[in-house]
Parts: sequence; C-alpha cells; structure tokens
Amino acid sequence: MKSRALLLLSLHILSRTTGEPINKKFPENFIFGTATAAYQVEGGWQDDGKGENIWDYFTHTYPDRIANGENGDVACDSYHKYLEDVDLLKNLGANFYRFSFSWARILPTGKADQVNQAGVDYYKNLISALKSNGIEPFVTLYHWDLPKPLEDIGGWLNETLVEYFADYARLSFTLFGDDVKNWMTFNEADQFCQVGYGYGAFPPGIRQDGIDDYLCGHTVLKAHAKAYHIYDEEFRATQNGRVSMVVDTEWYEPASDSDQDKEAADRKLQFTFGWFANAIYHPDGNYPQVMIDRIADRSQKEGFSKSRLPEFTPEEVDYIKGTFDFFSLNTYSTNLAEWSDDYAIGNPGWDADTSVTTYQDGSWNSSASSWLKVVPWGMRKLLNWINENYDHPEIVITENGFSDHGELDDQGRINYYTEYLSAILQAILEDGVNVTGYTAWGLLDNFQWLNGYTEKFGIYQVNFDDPDRPRTPKASTEFLKKVIATKCLVD
Ligand code: NOJ
Repeated sequence: MKSRALLLLSLHILSRTTGEPINKKFPENFIFGTATAAYQVEGGWQDDGKGENIWDYFTHTYPDRIANGENGDVACDSYHKYLEDVDLLKNLGANFYRFSFSWARILPTGKADQVNQAGVDYYKNLISALKSNGIEPFVTLYHWDLPKPLEDIGGWLNETLVEYFADYARLSFTLFGDDVKNWMTFNEADQFCQVGYGYGAFPPGIRQDGIDDYLCGHTVLKAHAKAYHIYDEEFRATQNGRVSMVVDTEWYEPASDSDQDKEAADRKLQFTFGWFANAIYHPDGNYPQVMIDRIADRSQKEGFSKSRLPEFTPEEVDYIKGTFDFFSLNTYSTNLAEWSDDYAIGNPGWDADTSVTTYQDGSWNSSASSWLKVVPWGMRKLLNWINENYDHPEIVITENGFSDHGELDDQGRINYYTEYLSAILQAILEDGVNVTGYTAWGLLDNFQWLNGYTEKFGIYQVNFDDPDRPRTPKASTEFLKKVIATKCLVD
C-alpha cells in the first residue's frame, strides 16, 4: 500500500511538471472489450419462438416516433451472423464482449415457466464461440427490451416484476453461469425509467413525469438487489463470478465558480447518477439525501402529504446497499450546469425536481449525436468524483464511444478514443482511480433507438442496405487493435 502511494505521488509530481501523462501504458491486468445490446443488433425479432418485447411493439405501432420509421426487426442480423461477430472480436483482439440477453428470446412471455430452447441455444452457441476464442462474455440481463406481456401488467410500475426478473436472473445463472463470470443486471435504468415512464419518448411511452419514473426506479433497484442476492446465496460458491448494475451519467461541470453553480452541478449528478448509484454503491445506501429532501418538499408544496419519491424501509436500504462486485459505468460526454430558481411547483417532473440548467460549450468538438461533445477532461473528473464519493470502487467502463455518419476513415472516433483513453490513463496513473476495464461502444453500427440507423457508433461498419448486412472494419478498428495488443496509447 505504502509503496503504491509513493509511486502515485511521484507520478503525480512528474506529470504536473510536464503536463502530460508520463506513462502511456495501461496496467497489465487492464482489459478491453466492445459492446452491443440485443435489440440493437440481433434482429430475428420473431425467429424460432422469440416473444414480442416492448421495442418490437413500440417501433411497429409508432414508426413515426423513430427516425425514418426504422426498427430492429433485422438490425445487424447478429442472430444469424453471430459467428462473424465473434470473428470481428477476435480480429480486434478483444479481451471481452459485452452483450445483452433478449429476455423474450429466452422466455417469450417473460415468465420462467415457458423456456424457449432455441433462444437458450443461441446464447449457448454465442458464449461457447466467444470462449473458444479466448473472449470473456460480459452479459447484461436487461438492456431495455421488456417482454410485452410484462408491460401489459404495468411494466416496471408493477412490483411483481421484481419476482419475474428474479426468476429470469436465476434461470440465466443456472443455464449460463458456468461460462459467464461477469453479469450486469440492468443497463442505464435512469434512461429507460425517465425516458420511458417519465418523458414517454421510449416505450412504454407513458408520461407521468416525476411519478412513474421514480416508481420504475424503485422496482428496478429492488429487482437488481434480489438478483444479486440470488447469485450470492445460490451460485457464487460454485460459479465464482461477479454481478453489477450499469449506471450512467455525463460529467456535470459547474458553469462558473459560484457556490450556486457548484451546488447545481452536484445536484444534477445526484439526480441522474446518484438516483441509482447511491442505493447500490454508496456506503450509506438509499436515494441521495438531496433527492429525498427536494422531492418531499416539492410534493408537500403541491399539496401531498407523501413524497412522490417512494421510500425504502431501513431493511430495504440494507438489502440493496453493497449489491455489487464492481462498479459498471457508462459515460460519453460533459455538460455545464447552472443554478436556476426552483422550477414552478405544480408541474411535477424530474427536471423540475432537479431544477438545474445544463448546456454544452459551442467550442467543444461535436459528433453525430446532439448530446455528445468530445470533452475528455470530463471523463477524468467523473472517475475521480466516483472514486471519492463511492469509497474507491473497482470501476469497469462498460460503455464509451463516439457517433458519426458511418464513414470508414473515422478519424473523429480515433481522436475521441485517443483523448478519452488518455484521460482514463491519467485517472489511473496520476490520480489512483481503480479502473480495470474499458468497453468501446460499440462493436457494430446498430439501431440507435429513437434515432434509428442515422447515428453510427460502431468500430465496424454495417451496410444496412444490403440484406446480408456485411461488416467492414473502419480505421478505428486498426487503432483499437493496436491499443489492445500493446496496452499502450502510442507506439
Ligand atoms: C447508451 C446505451 O446503453 C446504448 O444502448 C446506446 O446505443 C449508447 N449509449 C449510445 O447512445
């Protein structure tokens, strides 16, 4: 411990003088991978007994809500081309592949009493192809595609989903846990709860801002914790794997030095990230105090005696707290945060509860996504903030990447990866943050939710006009290949 501290101190002093990271090499045990999610790449939306999920239903029912009316019916056709995907990962030299199970492919109704063997076989085959090529599977159980029958009973607003999710998790651990050693229960719950149940832009398209989004989050946190405990009690001793939940945020930088802007930036982080991270990853557990206080206060002013934010009992706080084996972080960009007067009471909503104005600096480099600007120093600050606020956890970056319009000579992406990886390296070597893995989003250009196929994040291009969906490496493939092989940023 002592010598590590000394080493970090000397590295810190050295780099402060040069202003450059003095060592461009990642630690030997650092791992690199890429990611996808089932609905975004698989296609085969009704092949071999797969059930309908909420994204199938939503894209078919409301094509006008998706760019060009597109959907994931075929997507990258990874359901049929997974062996080719494994070859792409092998060519890249990836240490791991993060992908998600489609719940409705394994359990067409969402319920564990009816297993679709073809779906199980698909994931068995994918996992075995990965393993025989030395690529570790990192599996997300829920990347937004709820089986439709479970939405019909209320989706994440219905607490019985804790049980349905627990059954699905137990089945997954039973069937795949001998080979899968890294599990992520949920991906970015703030996104599917807030955008799905608050703003209503994602399925199920409900709009009860400041109410249903919080109810969704409450169920999800309990479902995550239950899955974790199931793993702990029934599987850990024999399978010896790890379980986590992916939490996401951008970095929020105070727009000025004023105390008010600093408070605003912190509040925004707590409402976005702390909403889920605090209950699981913070030593105190529960929702962040600023959320509890503000939502209670605003609810009271709206005339309610109870807060719109549901309460955990002390037993529930303890049950959820600490349910992780590593910290999974998705992050892409940075915003400036400015204090603003309380948004009007009587207009409940997550934004109004947060009451922070955010914007991005016009001089920051842009991407094809309106929200994604290239701000690498935000990555370093966020990693340090997590390190300090959540008791120095081991962090795996489970998503980070850049969007463009799909060009093969993707210098913008190479620049993004160079700068973000450099910021991560500084956080590791100079600040002592324990980051152990990096996931480039994504392996393939794919279905980018409401933006259809208009924004491309892949390091491999997919030609969506060709029914065969051919894949072609981009310049960034070669770049990352070198980084992974050498664990170095420059030759
Ligand atoms: C967040 C999500 O997890 C993923 O599905 C999405 O495509 C990327 N980030 C880019 O927006």
